[in-house]
Amino acid sequence: MGKNIDWKNLGFQYLQTEYYVKCEFKNRKWGDIQICTDPHISLHIAATCLHYGQACFEGLKAFGRKDESIAMFRPDQNAQRLISTARRLVMEPPPQELFLSMATKLILLNKAYVPPYGTGASLYVRPFLIGTSPHIGVHASEEYALIMLASPMGAYYKDGFYPVKAYIQEEYDRAAPKGVGDVKAGGNYAAGMMGDLDGQKKGFPICLYLDSATHLYIDEFGTSNFLAITKDGKYATPDSSSVLPSVTNHSLQDIARDFGLTVERRKIRVSELADFAEVGACGTAVVITPVSSIRHGDRVYTFGKENEAGATLMRLYNEITGIQYGEIEDRHGWMYRVDAA
Ligand SMILES: Cc1ncc(COP(=O)(O)O)c(C=O)c1O
Repeated sequence: MGKNIDWKNLGFQYLQTEYYVKCEFKNRKWGDIQICTDPHISLHIAATCLHYGQACFEGLKAFGRKDESIAMFRPDQNAQRLISTARRLVMEPPPQELFLSMATKLILLNKAYVPPYGTGASLYVRPFLIGTSPHIGVHASEEYALIMLASPMGAYYKDGFYPVKAYIQEEYDRAAPKGVGDVKAGGNYAAGMMGDLDGQKKGFPICLYLDSATHLYIDEFGTSNFLAITKDGKYATPDSSSVLPSVTNHSLQDIARDFGLTVERRKIRVSELADFAEVGACGTAVVITPVSSIRHGDRVYTFGKENEAGATLMRLYNEITGIQYGEIEDRHGWMYRVDAA
């Protein structure tokens, strides 16, 4: 099955693989890891995930590497974020070891779907946790299912690293202070769809959201963190309690420090956009999307040349993807081998 895939032309859409893995929390304990093939699941009609949003997820990638090994990028960070999310949504947090064993098993079972080195593609791993007990009143579930599926994902930049235009969405907010913007609740994405869709209808592929209390400070893009390179060469990223802690952003900050850049995690006023030389959106799927301009009401802030990514963002992108594909030494110990080391 896997061999018939046209790796170089793989897109970003869901592609079914042969197996997925599942583990259930019942009678106060996690059971055995089950290997499944039927992509449909059976759920109680009153399950808390369906009515009260006890549903959350993660996203990470496994890479076919230069030395022919297969490794995930920082899965421990995704495990920890799933644990924080589960706690915030009063769900059962799965232990990190279970998360890692399930992800490893999933990738090995679907080895034929791990894109070979050199194709620029990767195997996307999507873990999700749902409350499965029936409750008609608002109540936390007693039982949970942790499921992980995999789908090969193509290289995003097939013809080079191209910048996009962004729009500051002020009609709809993404996350409230002390709300759930800093965790990966499924409901956050339903809540964000209207704002993102509105931006797309206006011709902007991505929307930037401000802090919902004052609309003075930058929070993040719909599904990625905000990062900027200031005109004096510093790496700046917002410090906000309603932003999702991005594994990519944290890793890029470490790389920026390795390069000798000063990293500033601080409140960023919208008006500061005028001081930035380069702006990017970062996350697991695309790694870095360079942003050429940001519209805020009648004002348009532009960064660098219209159809060219900034040099610092390019350098950061090449370094992180080089580490992921095993072309550059894994000096931070980020890669987690799934086959025998
Ligand atoms: C709202 C939001 N911010 C940021 C990110 C980027 O996080 P990461 O780098 O861990 O993929 C994502 C994607 O997971 C996201 O959905």
